[in-house]
Amino acid sequence: MTREQWLERCGVGARYWDACRERLREPQVICAYLDDLEARVKDGRGMLLLGPIGVGKTAALALIAKEAQGKVPGVWYVTVTRLIGHLLRQSELRREMVYERAEYNLPKGREEVVDPKVWPLLLLDEFGAAYESDYAMAALEDYLGWRYDHKLATCVASNLTPEQIRRNPHYARLVDRWRETCDVVVIGGESQRRPSGD
Ligand SMILES: Nc1ncnc2c1ncn2[C@@H]1O[C@H](COP(=O)(O)OP(=O)(O)OP(=O)(O)O)[C@@H](O)[C@H]1O
Ligand SMILES: [Mg+2]
Repeated sequence: MTREQWLERCGVGARYWDACRERLREPQVICAYLDDLEARVKDGRGMLLLGPIGVGKTAALALIAKEAQGKVPGVWYVTVTRLIGHLLRQSELRREMVYERAEYNLPKGREEVVDPKVWPLLLLDEFGAAYESDYAMAALEDYLGWRYDHKLATCVASNLTPEQIRRNPHYARLVDRWRETCDVVVIGGESQRRPSGD
């Protein structure tokens, strides 16, 4: 599988395929996690990335997916909003198209239904985005609680401040679990996004 095919399978958007270590804002903690990725994922350990808009949280998750190729058999990048959509429609199963003959530039194999819920690494982006209902929040808590109970690693990125997390009992409950299983990285500073032409 090429790197592009792997990142597509993980659900990482092409904008982030060039994520690199050199541009990380908090390289020490994130690189320590990357250097020990296989063992940490096996041990159910993840990372909680907190910081304001544009500081590189999604890029850091994309970099984790990229470096996991060949080390972790299944990695799923998804935003909270998309995950909740799947949970409410009960459509979180994915159909992986793998072809019998190498054609359309796709690898050989067969079609399989897979459930990313049991994959060893979940990369969950935009935690703290608005939830449609209490039921949606409960479905998310149940999903993430299941992964926690089964010692499956989850890396999470969020714009929430520690104060916003404390004030919301649902967030506080989930983040309390992640404090136990994740390295916490707080990324600061201005947005790294630049207007085009700069
Ligand atoms: N490690 C990196 N490698 C390559 N590009 C990066 C890296 N970190 C940040 N960037 C670039 O900086 C910009 C902002 O990064 P990113 O989208 O990851 O921020 P974010 O924290 O996820 O923002 P938001 O809170 O809006 O989702 C993007 O254009 C991204 O490609
Ligand atoms: Mg982002």
